Amino acid sequence: MRIGIIGYGNMARALAGRWVKEHEIMLSGRNLDKAAEAARSLNIKSGSIAEAAGFGEVVVFATHNAAVFDAIEQAGGARAFADKVVIDINNPIDTKTFLTTRTDGLSLTEAIADALPGAYVGKAFNMAQARVWADPDKSFDGRAMVTPYTADEAADEMLATLIADVGSEPLRLGGNEHAYKLEAAAAIVIQVLFAGGDAHTVLNLIRPEAKPIR
Ligand SMILES: NC(=O)c1ccc[n+]([C@@H]2O[C@H](COP(=O)([O-])OP(=O)(O)OC[C@H]3O[C@@H](n4cnc5c(N)ncnc54)[C@H](OP(=O)(O)O)[C@@H]3O)[C@@H](O)[C@H]2O)c1
Repeated sequence: MRIGIIGYGNMARALAGRWVKEHEIMLSGRNLDKAAEAARSLNIKSGSIAEAAGFGEVVVFATHNAAVFDAIEQAGGARAFADKVVIDINNPIDTKTFLTTRTDGLSLTEAIADALPGAYVGKAFNMAQARVWADPDKSFDGRAMVTPYTADEAADEMLATLIADVGSEPLRLGGNEHAYKLEAAAAIVIQVLFAGGDAHTVLNLIRPEAKPIR
């Protein structure tokens, strides 16, 4: 499928690097030179935010959280996303307090869905660090990494496919009314990572190594 990615940072490059074998990808951003440089290293296309929104059957928002709404404007507004699958990977989390930056009671994903009434929206890839997504091997002791996600019914199949294509097992939590749980879970992940946690095992409820409890 054709995937337009808005952003050319850590997450944009990590996901593009895993999808590139099976899909056509365009990276994009405000700075066309930086977008082109990031795209060159993966041998994929680059363009403006509006071009990436036009290119993708799937459009991935890989900007910082509030920047999503700037990016929608830069793409030409909601009509640029009509009938597209839109994937929100962002975490609206303050990295000083590790609390949500949302103030209206909606998850960022629901706010995006409200701003893009013609699009089919989902959230995924927010709960692990970019280096985990970039890693070609997502198995641990031979067991697959599971990626929880939320999606409108019409976006479900594409999200599940794109999760499988990075080498992980999709786990649908439900529609985007469940996305706030992904954002809250990511806040725990980010808090533990900032305290020195390991990117690959951060939210394991079983310790990765044998260690006496007392
Ligand atoms: N890094 C991770 O491990 C990780 C893991 C899971 C989820 N996430 C989430 O993924 C998102 C991206 O993280 P990242 O680490 O990839 O960030 P990053 O490396 O800093 O890249 C951010 C991208 O967003 C663009 N951007 C920022 N403000 C913008 C605006 N107003 N309009 C258009 N583009 C704008 C930046 O381009 P400019 O050069 O134009 O600023 C850059 O291309 C964040 O929301 C984060 O919470 C990150």
